Amino acid sequence: MAASDSTVLGVVILTRHGDRAGFYQSPTTYTATSTAITPLGVQQEFQLGQKLRSLYLNASSPSFIAGVNGTLVNQTQIHVRADAGGELGVIYDSSVALLQGLFPANSNYTTDLANGTVVTGALSGYQYVPIESVEPSNDVSLEGWTSCGAFDSATAAFYNSTAFAQKRSESAAFLSQLPQYLDGRAVTLENMWNIYDFMNVQFIHNAAFAQALPPTFLAQALTLASWHEYGVFTSPQLNGIGNIAGRTILPQILSELAKIADASDPLKLAYQSISYKPFLSLFNMTGAASQNPQLAAIVNYASAMVLEVRQPSSGGEHVIRLNFKNGTGDDFETYNFLGASNDVPLSTLVNHVNPALIDSTTAWCAACNNKQDRGCAALAAAASQASTNVGLHQLISPVGAGFLGAGLTLAVVLAMLGVLAFLGMLTIGRGRVKKSTHSKINAEEKA
Ligand SMILES: *[C@@H]1O[C@H](CO)[C@@H](O)[C@H](O)[C@H]1NC(C)=O
Ligand SMILES: *[C@@H]1O[C@H](CO)[C@@H](O)[C@H](O)[C@H]1NC(C)=O
Ligand SMILES: *[C@@H]1O[C@H](CO)[C@@H](O)[C@H](O)[C@H]1NC(C)=O
Repeated sequence: MAASDSTVLGVVILTRHGDRAGFYQSPTTYTATSTAITPLGVQQEFQLGQKLRSLYLNASSPSFIAGVNGTLVNQTQIHVRADAGGELGVIYDSSVALLQGLFPANSNYTTDLANGTVVTGALSGYQYVPIESVEPSNDVSLEGWTSCGAFDSATAAFYNSTAFAQKRSESAAFLSQLPQYLDGRAVTLENMWNIYDFMNVQFIHNAAFAQALPPTFLAQALTLASWHEYGVFTSPQLNGIGNIAGRTILPQILSELAKIADASDPLKLAYQSISYKPFLSLFNMTGAASQNPQLAAIVNYASAMVLEVRQPSSGGEHVIRLNFKNGTGDDFETYNFLGASNDVPLSTLVNHVNPALIDSTTAWCAACNNKQDRGCAALAAAASQASTNVGLHQLISPVGAGFLGAGLTLAVVLAMLGVLAFLGMLTIGRGRVKKSTHSKINAEEKA
């Protein structure tokens, strides 16, 4: 469908963080150690922000978002969330850098004082966009896979599968050549993500390593790591536990798409800064990877997926267009999904993924068989006392003072399509809001 046949009403943007330092995650539980973004990483994200600005906030672009204020930030039109999990500052800082490119300083960001003085915002009118920091301890939406026993079991089953055994024998000769480059890391197919990540980080930042590594090795390692990660973060069944990264982020995405489609809601640009894992599940669950096999892979640093909500000019239902940009060396391309060869009606997407959604902490605790972590202990305790006629909220609140952070909120979001009713218990999408340009400062710590 040509751009002129429909108008963009808004976008849901998902991005992977930029270049970062080394990083290790357990191949069996995917528990991660922290790392740090690099100056290259913030450049990549800043440029991605500029690119998104040129497409969606520039009035002369064919995909300009109808009614958006692209000059001065209207905070009701934009909602930003950043995963504050295992890679900690990397993903949060990536969102800060991206927003600086998306909404650059503007000399019209001023205020008239009573005494006649006109004051311009700091940094020549830089505009601050609130970023919701999504902490895995009180919000499962952006890191559904950690502390999830059922997911760990599925990962173990994948490692024990015949497909894995076959890949192990196919890759044995290649892997046997790697130890000299890996500084003592375990050289097994199970550990393939860590092998690739170490090689990639060294290749970018260590001149001696980059010169010593034979030319095809990095690409070979990436192909194996992509196969490994796609196996771990997808499932043959839409509602399989391997798809948990997609199943937990989708309720938020669908809610945002519905708000954008709802003319009475001001939201126009929803942006989530995440790791590579939800991309794999989402490409699997939407069928995008089966129609476009190159999507069954680890996305590059500073990749972006944009779901455009479009209103066809002929009237009729809102449709979704999926665009993806594979990191810095690539441009946005449109990918077909859900078996279609064109934009997909929003309701078709909603109906397809609906049976697989994990839309509350309660649902997550059940899917993961967890009674102790990430809010599950408090929910289990509350459930066991449910006969006392005391409101659930009152039961949880004293516990929530420390562990539950933002606390238990019973949130009911009725999406405009009427197909969706999300009952969120430990809130998908109610993290703390942090505003900052250069560092993590919790503006609402005392709120
Ligand atoms: C007006 O108020 C601002 C902020 O308090 C102050 O910086 C400025 O000097 C004042 N201007 C005049 C003319 O009093
Ligand atoms: C999702 O991935 C699994 C592998 O984990 C694969 O068997 C299945 O066919 C994929 N589903 C789609 C729709 O591509
Ligand atoms: C993105 O790039 C990686 C290699 O850097 C590749 O494996 C993957 O297939 C690419 N994805 C797409 C959609 O082109």
